[in-house]
Amino acid sequence: MGTFRLSSVFFVLVISLLLLPCGASSHGKEGVLLVAFGTSVPEAKKAFQTIEREYRAAFPGVPIVWAYTSQIIRKKLAAQGVDVGSIGQGLDKLASLGVRTVRIQSLHMLAGEEFAALARSALVQAKKYAKQFDAVYLGRPLLESNEDAAAVGRAILLHMRPLRQKGDALVLMAHGQEHGRGDLALEGTRAILGRQDSSVFLATVEGSRGFEQMADDMKSKGLKKVWLMPFMVVAGDHARNDLAGDEADSWASRLRKDGYEVEANLRGLGELPEIGKIFIRHTKSSKDDLMLEPRKP
Ligand code: CO
Repeated sequence: MGTFRLSSVFFVLVISLLLLPCGASSHGKEGVLLVAFGTSVPEAKKAFQTIEREYRAAFPGVPIVWAYTSQIIRKKLAAQGVDVGSIGQGLDKLASLGVRTVRIQSLHMLAGEEFAALARSALVQAKKYAKQFDAVYLGRPLLESNEDAAAVGRAILLHMRPLRQKGDALVLMAHGQEHGRGDLALEGTRAILGRQDSSVFLATVEGSRGFEQMADDMKSKGLKKVWLMPFMVVAGDHARNDLAGDEADSWASRLRKDGYEVEANLRGLGELPEIGKIFIRHTKSSKDDLMLEPRKP
């Protein structure tokens, strides 16, 4: 009988261990803080709404709070009566809701300058909540791996399939960085997109690889029609003006001048549900707990 009791105690122990939420990541009440640069263009908000819908489905019953890093945009929105806070205010909100485990998610395209600033700010802010939060995980931006770039490419091609005819080119406008830091990730992404579809062309509006290089690549390919789409989470000012605007220096005008038929699809990538799913994968898989900083070497 003794052996039986011992083994059943062992059995119960194993079962209860299996039923325990795995890892330290799930202790306490959870909350999500979605952090974007921000936008004041009303149509661009569709991207954020789609992302939020995906998050609500993936984190049922979990508070989801937004923060914009751009103070200019926060002020502009506040003047219109729209209240979106900073990272600090977002953490305050989650603390007041009794959240113990925070999942901060960057909604940036890649780990460039904006993300670096977000990470620093999040670290400084999170450290103020040592009593309130058990863990504050930081989720990485959209393009973190070859797998991510391939998934983004598949989502774009799928989305464009009903619009593009055979032989139509697709021109994607990424933001890019003057100093080139983020551009390196974009070059890798460009290579992956090119392998998926050789009629896809990517260049940057503020980065090192600009319109001219892209236009050179497009020559002698026998292309007639070009679709434009922003390679950005939201279709804001750059998409509406620099990409598809009527001014002579927009990409649309310059491509028309080069003899192409041009049409624009002004949807931010965030409007594609597959993009939200990649962000969610990053949110759920993050083990980067800011509360553990500074780490022992
Ligand atoms: Co810009």
